[in-house]
Amino acid sequence: MNALTELQQRFRLALAGLSDDPESLLEMIRPAQDAKFGDYQANCAMPLGKQSGQPPREVAEQILQQLDVSDFCLEPEIAGPGFINLRLQDGWLIDQLTEMRHDERLGIAAVGEPSCLVIDYSSPNVAKPMHVGHIRSTVIGDAISRIARFLGHRVISDNHLGDWGTQFGMIIYGFKHFQQEDAYQREPVVELTRLYKLVQGLIEYQQAVKQLPVQQQQIQDFEDQLAQQRAEQEAAESVDKKAAKRLRQLEGRIADLRSALSATEAKIATVDQDEALNALAAEHSDIDQQVLHETAQLHAGDAENRRLWEEFLPKCRADIQRVYDRLDIQFDVEYGESFYDDRLATVVEELEASGLARESEGATCVFLDEFETPMIVRKRDGAFLYATTDLATIQYRMQTWQPDTILYVVDHRQSEHFQKLFSVAQQWQDPDVKFSHVSFGTVLGEDGRPFKTRSGEAVGLEGLLDEAIRKALDVVTANDDAKPNGAELSPQQRQEVAETVGHGAIKYADLSHNRTSDYVFSYEKMMGLEGNTATYIQYSYARVQSIFRRGEIDVDGLRASFADISLQHPAERTLALAIVQLAEVLEQVLEDYRPNLLTNYLFELAKRFSSFFEACPVLKADTEGLMQSRLLLCDLTGRTIARGLQLLGIGVVEMM
Ligand code: ARG
Repeated sequence: MNALTELQQRFRLALAGLSDDPESLLEMIRPAQDAKFGDYQANCAMPLGKQSGQPPREVAEQILQQLDVSDFCLEPEIAGPGFINLRLQDGWLIDQLTEMRHDERLGIAAVGEPSCLVIDYSSPNVAKPMHVGHIRSTVIGDAISRIARFLGHRVISDNHLGDWGTQFGMIIYGFKHFQQEDAYQREPVVELTRLYKLVQGLIEYQQAVKQLPVQQQQIQDFEDQLAQQRAEQEAAESVDKKAAKRLRQLEGRIADLRSALSATEAKIATVDQDEALNALAAEHSDIDQQVLHETAQLHAGDAENRRLWEEFLPKCRADIQRVYDRLDIQFDVEYGESFYDDRLATVVEELEASGLARESEGATCVFLDEFETPMIVRKRDGAFLYATTDLATIQYRMQTWQPDTILYVVDHRQSEHFQKLFSVAQQWQDPDVKFSHVSFGTVLGEDGRPFKTRSGEAVGLEGLLDEAIRKALDVVTANDDAKPNGAELSPQQRQEVAETVGHGAIKYADLSHNRTSDYVFSYEKMMGLEGNTATYIQYSYARVQSIFRRGEIDVDGLRASFADISLQHPAERTLALAIVQLAEVLEQVLEDYRPNLLTNYLFELAKRFSSFFEACPVLKADTEGLMQSRLLLCDLTGRTIARGLQLLGIGVVEMM
């Protein structure tokens, strides 16, 4: 039984006669922040009192007259202005633990009414290697999938690969013009990546060359404005605060433009300073147009481009698959954008027929009241867009799986795209399907700017994982060497542990931040043996296992034995309370798709275990019965940690 859900159920009954909207009040029942207020606290008497004009303490009394929780809580107490403090009975806690002890699912039942979720995550553009930006979508999406599945929902995880866009036009153009045959034979993906970067560099160069005079002109214009406003201000008798503010804003704009200008100049300089590149740039001066043309040819079914695409795609996918294998990421389907290509024309026709889309300046657009700009579904030249594919994808998903919810785990910069998409899709398809953009912030370097290599490229994901494992090996080695009775791990074991610790650290660091915020990537922080890290939690798990090893405990025998759990010491009770709360935390994670609620929970659990371990001797407990009870608590802690980490896609190790 999940205490929070049960409390909400009981309050629902108690509030029925007191409020017209009990549901909103149920959210005000929360785990207590401080143990002195009990285990849970209900704050619903305050808003109710406000509504009815009664003192909240009296309202709280009335609630308590209706509330029956006597089968699992102690007598509720009213505190302060009208808080209701609730404390679970020890006997009830022990019953829960006893049930968990024999249950592989730790007493967590599957939901009564499962829903069907399609989760769109990872979804990289495949013609380029995965970089640090892909980590967030991949691990957040994977954690949500795992948790939803564990709770009994039907999940279809879908890697919506970008396998059909301009990036293929880029490598096709690159391959036709700059290919180095032997390099391609040796390491095809390395060569394709080189081609991609080369073409991208040349396109950026051409764009920079065009941008340069525009930016220079803009700066000039703003400077003229600035000079004029300064003169006006000097001429004015009194100081005008608003004018001063405008001056500062103008100065700010100019500073921004100047830094954009230096970036443009730098791009131009890289090519200009390199004779070979310079020659290529001159020779391929319309490369951006050519790339669009190659992409259009591919989409139009041109035999040569189609053949090249079919040759490149499996190679690119294998490269990405390597990362997924390392990170233990699986998908149910990976159709990718190309799968929907032959549906796009029909989608546009349907949108037109239903009156949602219409022609505007030669393009086909859906106009939306909430947005200034329309969603374009077919360009003037006939090309379809990212949005068209997304609409076709929604239609396919609806037809194939009839989902209740479709989630898109995609970074926050695409939020406008998704707002428009959801609005169109809801008008076009089933208005009841729930869409959610599970958006997230940027990974920053230690300098607080988007995490880039020295040369300004996004940091490659594989290199990042390799480095994490190297650092983890240092941590594991130092820890093992420092053991009072000598090191325990063989070099091979150390390596294996380092892999679990390194990958776990990267995933956990990402998951433990509120997904909508940016976070700073730091190996040092993410592998701390203290603090909110996977390493600390994995270490707690290993500690449990080491108790069992030292005591030579037969864990299966212990679980099956008649030994009772008792909660005499406060540290035992606090730990027990955390153990039984996993179920409610998992439900909360799915409310707003926030895996960080689970990392916070695991961190708290590990801290409580550590306090318990300091205060309560286990193998040296006073009596055999007490030792057994504490061993059972250790076992449940270990299993709860392992389960929680597994639901985040993170492994545990027996020794560290
Ligand atoms: N491939 C896209 C990108 O890299 C992300 C796709 C997200 N999913 C979707 N259905 N639009 O930006």
